[in-house]
Amino acid sequence: MRATITAVGSYVPEKVLTNFDLEKMVDTNDEWIRTRTGISERHLVSENEATSDMGIAASKQLLEEYDIDPETIDCIIVATVTPDMFFPSTACLIQDAIGAKNAWGFDLSGACSGFVYGMETANRFITSGAYKRVLLVGADTMSSITDYSDRNTCILFGDAAGAVLIEPTQNDEYGILDSLVYADGSGAPYLYMEGGGSKNPPTHETVDKGMHYLQQDGRTVFKYAVNGMANVSVEILERNNLTGDDVGYFIPHQANKRIIDAAARKMKLRDEQVVINIDKYANTTAATIPLGLHEVLQDGRLQQGDYVVFATFGAGFTWGATLIRWGS
Ligand code: ACO
Repeated sequence: MRATITAVGSYVPEKVLTNFDLEKMVDTNDEWIRTRTGISERHLVSENEATSDMGIAASKQLLEEYDIDPETIDCIIVATVTPDMFFPSTACLIQDAIGAKNAWGFDLSGACSGFVYGMETANRFITSGAYKRVLLVGADTMSSITDYSDRNTCILFGDAAGAVLIEPTQNDEYGILDSLVYADGSGAPYLYMEGGGSKNPPTHETVDKGMHYLQQDGRTVFKYAVNGMANVSVEILERNNLTGDDVGYFIPHQANKRIIDAAARKMKLRDEQVVINIDKYANTTAATIPLGLHEVLQDGRLQQGDYVVFATFGAGFTWGATLIRWGS
């Protein structure tokens, strides 16, 4: 028995922040942002819209489009680093709002690797025989932890949510064929948000010092991300006796187009095999991969039997890849 993705949904908030808007906020310009990152614009939540709202919208879209009864869901995993609050979990908020009465669930903190970590978890839950339907949501409101006066980081992020339903398939040719997940906590000093947790509980001082914003040493993260994402993508192909030629779609985490290009080159992929939407949405952390998946599914590019590779690198450091043969 394998686990496979049987339904996909996504949600992107309406409000758009373009590079030209950012030119008016910090010392930057459209050309710099596009050439250094590949980003042209990003979508941001409106007032009173939070991570659970986006996760609920993506989940409801999935349930409606595929005519799924929410009461048949066994477990909800929400990959996020921007939960509505520490507790209750965003998974509980989504469970209630979509009427998944019989599901338990939890939030998973894997930063940009959250969705791939969630794929590994859901895959194990299904293939162990413990559960029949796992809803995996990747959702982040990066604008809630972004300092819009810091040009080094504010250009990079957007808000969005994606959701996939993972179920068993008796056909061993299809589904999740392999999954690789890694972590190296020595990368912690290069990408973090230090305020608000038990180490630095919120005070006037933590607010004044900007400790509730994401901090990043971009150059160091870039160096590790280029190697990490390229290596794990090649590793998952090689250990399954596949080459770049076999890949239908490479759906990488969208942190920087130059990181994606480096991984695609190492996998020897052609442009049309690589799913890139960083230009429209920027880095939406746990949502980038399901957003890309939904895009190739909706426009009819993704076909039954296609090999799909997800790959990611992010804070922690965390990284990983998933290999899927599309279908059930
Ligand atoms: N506009 C104009 N100039 C800028 C901007 C900006 N928005 N930001 C930085 N600069 C300047 C810098 O100050 C620097 O100037 P200096 O040379 O005078 O000091 C110059 O541009 C070059 O800066 P670098 O940091 O070297 O630029 P780089 O090419 O590395 O690009 C970037 C920066 C885009 C942040 C890149 O390093 C990157 O993508 N890093 C990885 C991001 C990532 O993968 N994060 C992981 C996922 S996120 C998560 O897990 C939550």
